[in-house]
Amino acid sequence: MKSAYIHIPFCSSICSYCDFCKFFYNGDLVDKYIDSLIMEIKDNYKGEELDTIYIGGGTPSSLDLKQLDKLLSFISNSLKVSKDLEYTIECNVMDITLEKLELFKKYNINRLSIGIESFNKDILSFLERDYTKEDIIEKISQAKQYFTNINIDLMYAVPNETLDILKEDILEFLKLDIPHISCYSLMIEDHTKLGIKDTNYISEDLDYSMYKLIEDTLEENGYDHYEISNYSKPGYESRHNLCYWKNHKYYGFGLGASGYIANYRYTNTKNLNKYLNGNYIAEKEIITKELNASNYAILGLRTKYGINKKEFKDNIGEDINQYFDTSDLSENDDSFYLDKSKWYIENSILVKFI
Ligand SMILES: C[S@@+](CC[C@H](N)C(=O)[O-])C[C@H]1O[C@@H](n2cnc3c(N)ncnc32)[C@H](O)[C@@H]1O
Ligand code: SF4
Repeated sequence: MKSAYIHIPFCSSICSYCDFCKFFYNGDLVDKYIDSLIMEIKDNYKGEELDTIYIGGGTPSSLDLKQLDKLLSFISNSLKVSKDLEYTIECNVMDITLEKLELFKKYNINRLSIGIESFNKDILSFLERDYTKEDIIEKISQAKQYFTNINIDLMYAVPNETLDILKEDILEFLKLDIPHISCYSLMIEDHTKLGIKDTNYISEDLDYSMYKLIEDTLEENGYDHYEISNYSKPGYESRHNLCYWKNHKYYGFGLGASGYIANYRYTNTKNLNKYLNGNYIAEKEIITKELNASNYAILGLRTKYGINKKEFKDNIGEDINQYFDTSDLSENDDSFYLDKSKWYIENSILVKFI
């Protein structure tokens, strides 16, 4: 076990599209939640040296300074970490303050992931994100005084978005000179404001044109498209997310978090009362050889690294090309992988691996 995900399910405001496990910030609830989270980690962490820690949400940066201090000091006193630790915290633009940045630094956090989504005021308003392009520029400049390893989340395929609006968003992103970006096509989920209003998706053709515009512009500017939704400058890939995509094991702590330990994957309850009462795990799934083989494919083929041949053989006991029909895949010395030109239609190919 080399990685741990820690979920903070609170946000200062709720966005129209979001189906993540989250609640509107409430100070008393957050205090109780941190106590329960600490208990869960104490009960389950087995003392391994971790290479990556990722505090995600919800919005971890919505916690106040005292709450963040309590959580981060517990983590640094209790989890053993490697010298080369990648330690990420997710932030919302308007939560960024010099005090919080200093606190993150004090506790050795070395990577920020900031949800920006767009620089365009109409898109931000549609997504119910309460800041402007000028706020983004100011907050990113503060963040860069403390951190170089920063990710920005961008969303595209928002209704009424045009290729010109997206082009402008990418240009604004490039001006910020940030080494990593995650680009997500808007998903309209049932139990969100957008889902309830029966919002329509943009056309598939436009979605594809947007995907290609992002890929072409970022590659021309030195970003490596290393996973369907992720681009980085050399050396800035998300090591934590690569742990998921390589089908490696990891702890998941917190409300609704999932993890993969021993021979099972588990998902924690999304019921806050149950969680506060110490009933953490809601579901466990034993990972059979067949499921494990499928997971190597479904996860690995999202990335340029593909499925490592040796790891597959060591874990599944057979060569990949004996186990699966690999005719859609490309091959190099170490791995079988899906050519980048096929990523956009990946789902239709993955069917063969499930
Ligand atoms: C946990 S949030 C990031 C941190 C913080 N909560 C924020 O929103 O600023 C993770 C990211 O998932 C993406 N996301 C969330 N819901 C989505 C949806 N329905 N469709 C596409 N992307 C989504 C957004 O880009 C968002 O920034
Ligand atoms: S997108 Fe981020 S800030 Fe918005 S509701 Fe979801 S987790 Fe909270």
